Amino acid sequence: MPTASDAAPPLLSALSGRRPATLPVWFMRQAGRSLPEYRAARKGVGMLESCLMPELAAEITLQPVRRHRVDAAIFFSDIMVPLKLAGVGVEIVPDVGPVVAEPARTASDIDRLTRLEPGDTTPITAAIELVTDELATVGSVEASWTPLIGFAGAPFTLAAYLVEGRPSRDHLAARALMHADPDSWRRLMAWCATISGHFLATQVDAGASAVQLFDSWAGSLTRADYAAHVAPHSRAALAAVEGRVPRIHFGTGTGHLLEEFAVGADAVGVDYRTPLDEAAARLPGVPLQGNLDPALLAAGDAALFAHLDDVLARGRSAPGHVVNLGHGVPPTTDPDVLTRLVERIHRAHAS
Ligand code: CP3
Repeated sequence: MPTASDAAPPLLSALSGRRPATLPVWFMRQAGRSLPEYRAARKGVGMLESCLMPELAAEITLQPVRRHRVDAAIFFSDIMVPLKLAGVGVEIVPDVGPVVAEPARTASDIDRLTRLEPGDTTPITAAIELVTDELATVGSVEASWTPLIGFAGAPFTLAAYLVEGRPSRDHLAARALMHADPDSWRRLMAWCATISGHFLATQVDAGASAVQLFDSWAGSLTRADYAAHVAPHSRAALAAVEGRVPRIHFGTGTGHLLEEFAVGADAVGVDYRTPLDEAAARLPGVPLQGNLDPALLAAGDAALFAHLDDVLARGRSAPGHVVNLGHGVPPTTDPDVLTRLVERIHRAHAS
């Protein structure tokens, strides 16, 4: 007879379409500016530099697990890290976001870029080994250890930064290139898929138990453009870890793309705009993740918990439900609100 501590962690049960006794919860951007211990650890260290310092990256990854008792750690890194490791000139400018020194706009820019090889991932592997050593001892009633989620940016989101050079609202240059020069676009996307897939595989090789592909900007695309010019490359990135760990595919503003997001993934992360019961009806048999509205974190406990009850009720229509926000934790969030939310989710009955 298996003891409780032999059982799969709730996150992994839910991602395989089961309903564990405790609902699993983690938060996108749980490691970050909402935590005073994060702000202290990062003092004077640049964002991408901190991602390549194994002890620091491991410490920041573990902070939200220790504080909130979430059911998974997400590796502290950034979608731009594999680009930097490959040799792309990129920085994360505070309050702006990723800025690329030489945007890739022409066929020859793209030729130059796609000759770059994935770089040395030793600091990533070292950080993940430190994290999984500690997570092996952080358990709950259900399981004796806590899983680490690895991640990468999806090819379109990486390509949007590479073409635009900085955050943009509509990704006009990227979407224009897709149609003006489909051949260069395909080469750029195939290269981004290689970089993303390699980053995912590196994290799984080092000990990550699940992965999430973030396509933050895919919502700006029509379904036809997504299907023709983007989806095959996201599927190639996800295929790099096929059959090894569960793969969550998440995008924002992607309600019109949900069926496409489910292909080649094991679970779909739903943003806060699409109710989970609607997503479940459109994606039969697919475990879902989400989708609390991050705005409600600042609305007071009464409104937040009423919203939570609604999200949990709708999530019962999915075969497995991993509770999360519908996008990242806002930096202004009171961390105690997140801790209370985790407690309440753990007390809610899973079925
Ligand atoms: O806790 C976690 O979720 C793990 C770490 C993580 C970070 N970025 C750390 C980070 C993850 C999973 C990401 C993903 C990421 N990075 C995405 C996809 C998710 C999404 O939010 O849509 C994107 C688009 C990026 C690119 C990026 N990096 C942006 C837009 C920013 C914000 C810029 C700003 O200053 O407002 C970053 C910086 C970043 N990445 C921070 C963190 C904790 C904040 C930097 C800081 O603390 O100085």
